Amino acid sequence: MLRLWPNAVSDPFRPLKNAFARYPTGVTVVSCVGSDGKPLGITVNSFNSVALEPALVSWCLDDHTSVAAEFLAADHYAVSILSVDQEKACMRFATPGQHEFINGEGETFKTGAPLLKGRIAGFDCRLAERLKVGDHTILIGEIVHFDSFPGKPLVYAGRQFLSGPMIED
Ligand SMILES: Cc1cc2nc3c(=O)[nH]c(=O)nc-3n(C[C@H](O)[C@H](O)[C@H](O)COP(=O)(O)O)c2cc1C
Repeated sequence: MLRLWPNAVSDPFRPLKNAFARYPTGVTVVSCVGSDGKPLGITVNSFNSVALEPALVSWCLDDHTSVAAEFLAADHYAVSILSVDQEKACMRFATPGQHEFINGEGETFKTGAPLLKGRIAGFDCRLAERLKVGDHTILIGEIVHFDSFPGKPLVYAGRQFLSGPMIED
């Protein structure tokens, strides 16, 4: 188990974040093709399944992140659900300014949005709706293609990473 951040006592949102941190989530990297044609990604735990018909997912983009404009301009994005073996990639895509893919770690499905190899599930999405809410934007995507693999999900709770259970099917 790894603690991601030391106590940031100067952060006025710390108490609220501490309360949110008591809700365990999986971890994803959401990715798109940037304006320069290169793949870029950001670590995200606000991913949610939304609907089955049509198949929809959502995630919340912090308007202050350096890649916000790129994701707001993209017509497609992909979501890679991280395995417990992908903690390093999770940390890298959560590091300020580090959003590029390393050579060979990405692949594409139908829309051209990049996915991370080694994921335990992937969703290739067409942007369906953008909802500006407070200091975030909810990006709803319609799933164009998806896959899943046996594996253990990376789980995030209390700013620590844990292993989820083995999921076979
Ligand atoms: C576990 C975890 C979950 C995160 N979830 C989100 C999220 O849902 N939405 C978001 O915009 N940022 C999220 N972030 C923060 C971004 O990954 C981070 O702010 C960004 O990569 C920092 O890059 P920047 O300084 O270049 O903007 C999360 C970070 C971590 C470690």
